[in-house]
Amino acid sequence: MHMHKFEKLWLIFGVASLLVFLSVLGVSAFHHGHHASSWSELIDPEKVDETEPFDEPGLKKVEGKDWDYELVFVASAFSYQPNEVQIPLGSTVKIIATTKDVIHGFQIPGSNINMMLEPGYVSEYIATLNQAGEFLVLCNEYCGAGHHLMTSKIEVIE
Ligand code: CUA
Repeated sequence: MHMHKFEKLWLIFGVASLLVFLSVLGVSAFHHGHHASSWSELIDPEKVDETEPFDEPGLKKVEGKDWDYELVFVASAFSYQPNEVQIPLGSTVKIIATTKDVIHGFQIPGSNINMMLEPGYVSEYIATLNQAGEFLVLCNEYCGAGHHLMTSKIEVIE
């Protein structure tokens, strides 16, 4: 079996991205009449800057979790915050991302990471970074005039 060489670089532990919407549908299918008053994966897109963890975009070391770092991204037309980040090689990282305005993409070419960031939702992805180097984050959802300029860079350092 041939494996694309980059697929090995990102060992994926799990994904919980925009399936919230599907979960809501699934829950309501057998739980009529009640709505969850708050859904942790939902966010007010108008208040992203004031809402944890998006009030502090970037890399944060965490303890006692299945991942070593949380990497928080805020997307908006036409940039990501942070626009560059360094992460130690071998780390397991939970990427947590949302958008302040329109739908944006979050794709790291050469990896399995390819999320859609939708206003009002939080997208998450857990990956172990076992290859040093620079990885581009690209927006792959057309979002306007600056779409093609919208990038960030993840540098995995030894
Ligand atoms: Cu953001 Cu295209």
